[in-house]
Amino acid sequence: MARLIVVSNRVPLPDEHGSPPPGGMAIALNAALKKKDGLWMGWSGEVKGEEEPPALITREAGGITYALTDLAQKDLDEYYNGFANRVLWPIFHCRVDLAEYARQEMSGYYRVNRLFADLLMPLLQEDDVIWVHDYHLIPLAEELRRRGCRNRIGFFLHIPWPPADILFTVPIYDTLLRGLSSYDLVGFHTGYDLSNFAECLRREGCGDLVEGGFCRAYGRLFRCGVFPISIDTAEFESLADQAARDEALQENYRRIAGYDVVIGVDRLDYSKGIDQRIVAFRRFLQANDHRIGKTLLLQITPKSRSEVPEYLAMQKDVAELAGRVNGDLGTIDWVPVHYINQSLGRPELAGLYRMARVGLVTPLRDGMNLVAKEYVAAQNPHDPGVLVLSRFAGAARELEGAVLVNPYDPESMAHAIERALVMPQDARIERWRAMMARLREHDVYRWCDDFLSCLHQAQNTAR
Ligand code: F6P
Repeated sequence: MARLIVVSNRVPLPDEHGSPPPGGMAIALNAALKKKDGLWMGWSGEVKGEEEPPALITREAGGITYALTDLAQKDLDEYYNGFANRVLWPIFHCRVDLAEYARQEMSGYYRVNRLFADLLMPLLQEDDVIWVHDYHLIPLAEELRRRGCRNRIGFFLHIPWPPADILFTVPIYDTLLRGLSSYDLVGFHTGYDLSNFAECLRREGCGDLVEGGFCRAYGRLFRCGVFPISIDTAEFESLADQAARDEALQENYRRIAGYDVVIGVDRLDYSKGIDQRIVAFRRFLQANDHRIGKTLLLQITPKSRSEVPEYLAMQKDVAELAGRVNGDLGTIDWVPVHYINQSLGRPELAGLYRMARVGLVTPLRDGMNLVAKEYVAAQNPHDPGVLVLSRFAGAARELEGAVLVNPYDPESMAHAIERALVMPQDARIERWRAMMARLREHDVYRWCDDFLSCLHQAQNTAR
């Protein structure tokens, strides 16, 4: 049996009983790895001394081998905090204004990819199938091929692929494109991402899509496809059912239970449009006097990537904005914006999603956005809330029952919130059913199976 090797920057480690950490993707990948005697390789999350030689620490848990490496501070600064999160992340989210190009960081990014290839090569067996995840590791297949690896290698991009003119602002965009052509399958969330990728190849004069789901570029033929990631729909639905019956949890929510709750849940990231959302919520309150004192925005926003300057600046800006709205509009017994910088457990989140009448998911750009899907899965089928969703999230291409909004336009967002709050029950049920049917059919297990079966098919055709 061919083993499955997953490689990603972060590795979600199992708990002491060998159970995967919560989260749809970790659970689905763990299930696939378990079936295939699998191995998951990545960064340990720890920093090592510059002079310590690189090494892999392996451990077995729940039928899976984990192979982890510490990274030196310089590697982390240049690869993760640097090129990955100060160039690729902003550019792929169309924020050219936030990208900081430093030659040294670009070479740090390639150095860490070479390190991953060096560490992985000795572990590989002839039939292993390798699945590489996300923008941190675009060059990994090319590095493995240079070391003689002939295994099938797939790549899935968890963030959007930008339009050509935006990608071309990255000084080494051509090496990124060439790097992707070393894979046997390259997967994106949406058809829009795939067509942007193809447009980049065409404009560069180095390749194009060809019939049958293939791409020919840099002299290689490889598969390309669309694999919209999803959630463990059944699990999330049942978490929300349990939360609705959990008296202790309901008691926790008591203080906000009497209000119309509009919920936002995002990592603190400029791509999520959190400040635009708070501004829109203020407009909504100002335009709808009767909502004053009755509606609140519960914005749950764990801090993220705090070593990257743009993220640090944003922490201050969003906190100040939330404070200003509360100062301007709040009263002694009503706080309009509940802004919380903590991450909550999944059962608690599921319960809050169910309680909220509106799920406000308004990223400026997002590969998929699983909060949108979780919000839908958590709803009460007989009295569901309404999803207000940015048209620039990948999820908007699937969740047709959402009220779509332009996150750059606060007035239209304010209007959408009011429209969601007054939407009649039968209309809400109809919209929710359509979205839930999609999520039941296309859950995260289906995403994983679809990608892996496409990668298996790539075996004989891509060489
Ligand atoms: O959406 C891309 C992604 O890398 C996810 O895979 C991850 O959960 C999230 O961003 C957070 O990223 P980081 O690992 O930088 O905290």
